[in-house]
Amino acid sequence: MSQYTLSINGQARSVEAAPDTPLLWVLRDHLGLVGTKFGCGAGQCGACTVQLDGQPARACLTPVSSVGSLKVRTIEGLSPDGQHPLQRAWVELDVPQCGYCQAGQLMAADALLREHPKPSDKDIDDAMAGNLCRCATYLRIRAGIHRAAQIAAAQPK
Ligand code: FES
Ligand code: FES
Repeated sequence: MSQYTLSINGQARSVEAAPDTPLLWVLRDHLGLVGTKFGCGAGQCGACTVQLDGQPARACLTPVSSVGSLKVRTIEGLSPDGQHPLQRAWVELDVPQCGYCQAGQLMAADALLREHPKPSDKDIDDAMAGNLCRCATYLRIRAGIHRAAQIAAAQPK
């Protein structure tokens, strides 16, 4: 066991874990941040997507010992009030079905919008290709990202 101090959603959090413990289990089991989901555990589905320094990353494949000073952002840190443009768009368009994959979808979509504030369909499809949805909400996810881009563009700067 080793001691790690991680930056999680802007807060320093200390955990004791074996170095090869996946970040996913540190988040869920050590810190109680259960919004990030376990799907395949093998890097294939995207349900566990978080952001490391703003880039989407698979928490199931990220050993806690590799995180270091990278800033971890989870779905709990997406917005303080549930009013992130993606959250507003998701509610407006009723994007989720069962919801299981959606935390990962939102974290990937947020990273996309930071790089492409007005993404094309192709930008969206390329960025979201690794995030699977067993309920096949793909078309609503794509529409939700376009809508979130509109909402963000209309917000006062
Ligand atoms: Fe991590 Fe599926 S649980 S990619
Ligand atoms: Fe059910 Fe995506 S909404 S898996």
